[in-house]
This record gives sequence, C-alpha cells and structure tokens, in this order.
Amino acid sequence: MNRIKQTVFLCLISCIAASITNAQPKTIPQKVDALLKRMTLAEKIGQLNQLNGDWEATGPITKDLGNKLDAIKHGEIGSVLNIVGVKHTRAFQEAAMQSRLKIPLLFGQDVIHGYSITFPIPLGEAASWDMPAIERSARIAATEAAAGGIQWTFAPMVDIARDPRWGRVMEGAGEDPYLGSLIATARVHGFQGKGLGNLDAIMACAKHFAAYGAAIGGRDYNSVDMSLRTLWEVYLPPFKAAADAGASTFMNSFNDLNGTPASANRYLMRDILKGKWGFKGFVVSDWGSIGEMINHGYVKDGYEAAEASINAGSDMDMESRSYINHLAKLVADKKVTIATIDEAVRRILTKKFELGLFDDPYRFSDADREKRVMNTPEHLEAARDIARKSIVLLKNEHNVLPLSKDLNSIALIGPLVKAKKEMKGFWSLDVGDESQIVSLYEGMQQAAGKTNLLYARGCDITDTSRAGFDEAYKTAMQADVVIMAMGERPDMTGEAKSRSNIHLPGVQEDLIKAISATGKPLVVLLMSGRPMVFNWTADHVPAILYTWWLGNQAGNAMTDILYGNYNPGAKLPITFPRTEGQIPIYYNHLNTGRPAHADNDVNYTSAYIDLPNSPKYAFGHGLSYTTFSYSNLKFSKKSMLKTGSITVSFDLQNTGKYAGEEVAQFYLRQMVSQPVRPIKELKGFQKVMLQPGETKTITFTIDKEKLAFYNDQLERITQPGEFQLMVGSASDDIRLQGDFQLL
Ligand code: NOJ
Repeated sequence: MNRIKQTVFLCLISCIAASITNAQPKTIPQKVDALLKRMTLAEKIGQLNQLNGDWEATGPITKDLGNKLDAIKHGEIGSVLNIVGVKHTRAFQEAAMQSRLKIPLLFGQDVIHGYSITFPIPLGEAASWDMPAIERSARIAATEAAAGGIQWTFAPMVDIARDPRWGRVMEGAGEDPYLGSLIATARVHGFQGKGLGNLDAIMACAKHFAAYGAAIGGRDYNSVDMSLRTLWEVYLPPFKAAADAGASTFMNSFNDLNGTPASANRYLMRDILKGKWGFKGFVVSDWGSIGEMINHGYVKDGYEAAEASINAGSDMDMESRSYINHLAKLVADKKVTIATIDEAVRRILTKKFELGLFDDPYRFSDADREKRVMNTPEHLEAARDIARKSIVLLKNEHNVLPLSKDLNSIALIGPLVKAKKEMKGFWSLDVGDESQIVSLYEGMQQAAGKTNLLYARGCDITDTSRAGFDEAYKTAMQADVVIMAMGERPDMTGEAKSRSNIHLPGVQEDLIKAISATGKPLVVLLMSGRPMVFNWTADHVPAILYTWWLGNQAGNAMTDILYGNYNPGAKLPITFPRTEGQIPIYYNHLNTGRPAHADNDVNYTSAYIDLPNSPKYAFGHGLSYTTFSYSNLKFSKKSMLKTGSITVSFDLQNTGKYAGEEVAQFYLRQMVSQPVRPIKELKGFQKVMLQPGETKTITFTIDKEKLAFYNDQLERITQPGEFQLMVGSASDDIRLQGDFQLL
C-alpha cells in the first residue's frame, strides 16, 4: 500500500469508528429513543400495562391474561405489583429477560409505612411535625424494600383529608396544606434518597391525583365536587411539593372531579402536572380506575376508556387491561397517535434506565443484601423514635402522667393491651417477623421493674358483650394506677374502610366508665387510624394518649411515654370533631357573614342549636409533661412591600419541670380581601427542645409567598391590606398576636 492509499484507508477506518461511536446512545434520552425505534407497537403497549402478581390484591383481579409469566416473556407487561422478596421478583425478572428486547420489569408495591419493620401509620407520623424523623422513616422503608426487590412504592399519599369518616385519612398527613406539603417533600426525599440509580432508592408515587380526600360523605371512591380555587388552594399544594421534590411518579385516583374521572382528567394530568409543573416522570392509574370509568358513566366501554385515559395523560394502566386490550386498535383507528403512545413509553423507560435496570436487571435481587439490610438495630431504634414522636398527649389532669417508677401495681385493661400484629395498622406488609412486634403489655413488662402488672381484657373491640366487665373492675380495684388500651380494629381504617359512626366502637366507652368508677388514677390509650369520637372519656378521664397505630415498636414507644423516659411533643395534624354531625370540620375555614362568637352563640349565627361549633380537639393540639410560655412578640417593622419581608420574633420558655419539645405554630389571617380568606392558616412552625427554665428566641419571616393566595382566575396573587399574625401552641391556643400591613 502506498502512503496515499494508506492514509485514505486509515481515514476511512477512523471515520467508520467515529460514526459507530457517535451512533452509540450515551445519554438516557438517547438510549430511550434508540430502544423505542426497535420496539413494535405491541411491545410499546406492553410497557404501559401493569398487572398484579396475585400475591395480595387490593381490588378485583381480572384473570384473562393467561399465564402471567408467558405474557411477560411476550413483552405484554411492563410492571407488576404485589410481588415482594428477592426470590419472587427475580423469577418474574427472569421471564422478562426472555422477552425479545429484554426490557426489565418494574416491581411496585404499597410500601406505605415501612417494609419489613413497620413504622407508625402516616397520619401518626404526621403528628410528630418532625420532618427529619419522617424522612428517615421513608428512607428506612425504601432501603428495606429495595433490598427486597422493589423499585417503586405507591407512596406518599398526599391527599388532604377533612373528613375522618373516610378510612384513608390514616394514609396521609391530615388536613393542612402547609404541613402536608412539608411532609410530602420529606417522604419523597426519604424514598428516593440520593436519587434513582442508588441501590437503596425507590421511586416515590404521589397519590391520588387529585382531590380524592374530598370524597363526598367520606365514602371511599366517591365523587368530588369542589371549586377550582379550593382545589388549587387546599388540595394541590402537597402534590406540587411532591413534584418539586422530584417524585418519579404520580398516581391518579378513583374519584371524578366535578364530573370528569381523575383517570381521564386532561386538566389535571396534561395541563397542570405535565404542563404547568413540568413533571417528567410517569402517571399510573389507580387499580382498575381506567376500566371503572364505564361505571362512572364517562365512557361506554374499555375501548373508549383507554382512549380517554391515554389521551388525558395516564401513562400506565394498573390492572384494568384497557390499554393491553384496546390501544392497538385505537392506534389503527387513528383515535390515539403513535406520538402519544411513545410519550408514555418514553416516560416509563426513562425511569427504568435511571434505576439502572438496563445495566443489571437483577441489581435489586441480591439475597444476601436482603438478609443483611432488614431489621437492623438502627432501623428498630429509628422506628421506636418516630413512634414516640407520634404519640399525642391529649389530656393530663392532676399530672397522672408520667407514671412513678415506684408503684406497687398497675392494671392493664382493654382489648388492645396484648395486641401484637394489630400494632402494624392497615397498609402494612407481611414481610417482617411478627414475633418482633412489641405489644403494650410486653413493653410494660420490660419497663415496669418491680411494679406488679395485672391484666384483664374487659371487652372486645366491636363485640357488645359486657361479660368481662366485672373481672376488669376487680382487677382495677387491686391496682395503684389503671392503664386502658382501647380503640378500633386496624382494619377499620384504610382503603374501603369508611365509617358513618366514628365513635369508639362496641362497649368500650362503657368499660371506661365502669373502670373510672373505681376512682383509681386512670390513663386511656386510644389506638386508631382516624380521629374518633369519645366524649365521655375526654370529659372524665384525667389522662389520654392518642397512639394511632405505631408499628413494630409500639409497646416500647408507649411505655417510654408512660414512664416519662420520653416527653410527648406531638400535635394533632387533623381536627377531632365532637360528633359526626360537625363533619367536615377543619380549622382553616372562612368566617361567614354571621360567625358564632362563642360556642353558645346560636342567635341567628352560623351555628348548631344542639352542638358547639368548636371541635373536641383542635388541629395543632398536643400537650407535654412540661409547660411553655410565649412572650415578647416583636416585629422588625409593621408594614412591608410585596418585595420585602418582616421578621417576627418571640421568646419561648420551658416553665415546667421536664425537658421537652414544643411545636410553636405561626398562623396568618388577611382581614379584608377579595375573595375572602380563612380565619387562620398555618404558615410556619418550629419544633424546639428546651431544658427546664430555658428560653429561646424564635424567629419567623413573613414574605410574599406566605401572604399569597389564588384569586378567582386561579392566579396566585397578594392583596395589600391588614394581616393578623397569631403564634400559639395549637390552632385554638393562640398565645401571642399582632398585626401588620402589606402595602
Ligand atoms: C388501590 C389504592 O387506591 C392505591 O392507593 C394503591 O396503591 C393500589 N390499590 C395498589 O395497591
């Protein structure tokens, strides 16, 4: 070869090499595009299809796809739910690796409050008002779930809930958009850790988009009818916070919103989520919700359901099979474009790439890691810590609590004293070892030292037999102090668990009355996933702790509080009504033209003639074994421009005998505006630890964002005028207030 020929030849080789390298997709978008080009329409539709793995169903299962493993091998399934554990997920992934393009499956699961170790129910954790602790709980759940083969949790549920009849209040953060937004952020950060691609990160899923918490009458799956202003003002903020925190996925919901089912709601998914908010992840439907639009009367069959849903922006179909059965024909009929299908597939494949599943589809399938990561001492300690932080001290007259360590005997009475697996609450998984759950009784046995523990069950949870009352009375008579563990069954809250009557069930309150008649110092622990009604107890029992469902470490956490080894600092994230007739009841309501000025003010005011307006326990309420004083409120200035800010400060002092934490709450009210504003809205809080006698100066900055709201055109605006700042220990316990002007 002469020199010229040699040079030409070398050039040719390097050009070919360069073009090959250039053609190799490098970035995730390039890889997704390259893969999309190789996919048939059927394979694309398969990616949009999510099926239940038949392990545990939360809805009706359609069994018409034959053998699921075969369907996976044919590329007809992109994701499965309800398959947990390395062994099972690996078996399914192996089937996916036999498909033509070897696209890995995504394993989704309701990891709502823990995986192997169960943490308190989300509403309970919300009562901690402790963002680092809430984030840590989600972090641990994600670490364990990822080690168990899962890459995707259907959490956090960020639905605002103002109706305790709705069984799903237990899954969320309560009634307040500000607190709910902070908790949504903490949970998304917790689940996703340092980001997808890390072995301990799983995708979060903000659900149920949107307004599911406002189901009429508190009845699950029911319709929602609300103004768009309320939607934007109250129900959307936690979703926006989840999107801003980087939630990888969203789930739409069962309800219709003003007549359009959420699963086909273009306004929610295309205009708001993917449009205005720039969400880059994907949207999954709720279980069967696309098919259920036939029952809604929104579409006449599965074909129309699939069309409405995919065009509205619902990317993945959970268990309704509308996509797998109808999308191909819809494309052939030109009702759905290939571009629409590609967009949905692209969003899903992007997440699979980000999770690293194309590099190694078995990276979440390491049996050694699965054993190593679960139930570590650090995880258990964190579970105990957040459980203590979730317990709300509703009442503590005559300092019945904390208990003295020198008592001769304590009587433990009630149907939940020895309950173990019940402590996990609804939406917990059967992955962990139930023998590790600590009941109240076991916790007390550990902590009681020389104190003699007596026990009587007394009655059942819902059964109305009083046969055990006598024995319980006699047992109480022998003790120095009585502790009663009462409540609902864990399956009385959760999905499809709405109650019209939210009283403490069965004859439990009668048993409390009977035991109270002994005259012994009495502490009642109430376990439930929702606010219950228990007026007699609230009015007559000196000490009441609301413990929700606290998870594995329940018994230890409760005894930590009972003995004062931990000083309670939790605050209610949701209003407790006096009775069902007050529902919906929430603190941040409007004033009306005829507000009742006091609970007995029924004289042509907005009131009931048979019931005060005020709740039994208000949003933000929760006591401590110590007391706090609020003083010295100062404003850096008394007026601000909307480009400016005001700094407010006050002194918080621990005036009691115990070290303790207070959640100091800041509320604002705009006195005159159009449209009108609520009588108070939480705009900030600080959780502060103080030693006895210690004082700290707390500051709070008021800026434009804190004063803004949505007008009738759904624009976020501020209006000049007078504002009131209220600082307090609860929404009904305001200790300091002052006003300022927005110029
Ligand atoms: C139905 C529930 O509404 C949803 O929250 C859950 O994630 C799915 N079932 C899957 O279990």
